[in-house]
Amino acid sequence: MSIRTLDDLLAEGVSGRRVLVRADLNVPLDKQSGDITDDGRIRAVLPTLGALTGAGAKVVVCSHLGRPKGAPDPRFSLRPVAGRLGELLGAPVHFATDTVGESARSTVDALADGEVALLENLRFNAGETSKDDTERGAFADQLAAFGDAYVDDAFGAVHRKHASVHDVPARLPHVAGRLVLREVEVLSRLTGEPERPYVVVLGGSKVSDKLAVIEALLPSVDRLLIGGGMCFTFLKAQGHEVGSSLLEEEMVETCRNLLERSEGKIMLPVDVVAADAFAPDAAHDTVPADGIPSKRVGLDIGPETVAGFAAALKGARTIFWNGPMGVFEMPAFAHGTRGIAETIAKTDAFTVVGGGDSAAAVRALGLDESSFGHISTGGGASLEYLEGKTLPGIAALEN
Ligand code: 3PG
Ligand code: MG
Repeated sequence: MSIRTLDDLLAEGVSGRRVLVRADLNVPLDKQSGDITDDGRIRAVLPTLGALTGAGAKVVVCSHLGRPKGAPDPRFSLRPVAGRLGELLGAPVHFATDTVGESARSTVDALADGEVALLENLRFNAGETSKDDTERGAFADQLAAFGDAYVDDAFGAVHRKHASVHDVPARLPHVAGRLVLREVEVLSRLTGEPERPYVVVLGGSKVSDKLAVIEALLPSVDRLLIGGGMCFTFLKAQGHEVGSSLLEEEMVETCRNLLERSEGKIMLPVDVVAADAFAPDAAHDTVPADGIPSKRVGLDIGPETVAGFAAALKGARTIFWNGPMGVFEMPAFAHGTRGIAETIAKTDAFTVVGGGDSAAAVRALGLDESSFGHISTGGGASLEYLEGKTLPGIAALEN
């Protein structure tokens, strides 16, 4: 059960060979302008792409962006990503306006050694995400025709059983790229024997998304700190009213159950920033977590909570953080996320930031990325890895 790596492929020699690279270039775009608001995922694949172009490969990159519904949709075009990728690589990236059609064929055919092409969004094709093996397989055949070898460097998508992730590697010699390798190395330190105390901070909006990981982590962590939109369902489970804060009513019972079984490991907010409305300029103040007024909406954890969480984080030797503590995109509600991020950055612990949103928060808040041990490019992927699930993209590389 061993995975071949990019170095193995490079050792064979790739000069003049077409190498199909699955990347996760699913970057956030500004809703109005369409500009890339965080290029972290593009930067993260540069080591793999640079190694391949440097070795003279013809590099064919493919990725998804957003969740288009199996047909072309200009809002999700990868064209702006091709531009940014070219800037970062310092060489033009040839963009194909379709994924496996005429434009893709001619673009790939025209590649010179050491050049890079980017295909249009994989999810413009129904076959990419199809649950039907035959339909997915047919699309994988078309994609695989563009490569003599396949590199998976799309860590953010390894938990998806999609054609480009799961079916293409069955059709071509396949290896893990530098990013995938590094991510797996780091995350396996957390599932192995993490140095203790091991403290996990979870935020983000939905409890339902995080339930499985909470279940899986509870036995192995020393402390589990919960903030973000998901904390209100837990507060409700403790018997508190949460006003018009985000609430998953059908999860309350499950959360109560988790609290009972957690042996006091779960720490919840003791105060929250409650606002009149979900808006950047809404009137707001800090209220106790057990006293949220009925018409108010909790949009951040309060300062006392930040201090309590910080105290729990200070002695930690291993920290995993996934999900913002509040609506950090609005400056009035970014203090909780900033406070926790700054605390984590300052500890001597081995620190891992998981997830698209928390990684974007680190950069959006202007924090120094190098003060974290590792910033994962995978949100769902890192959580599913920690849950101990089999990830289709990793399993495909093992075969
Ligand atoms: C992500 O952003 O989590 C990855 O790119 C996967 O995207 P998906 O959740 O739309 O499959
Ligand atoms: Mg996701």
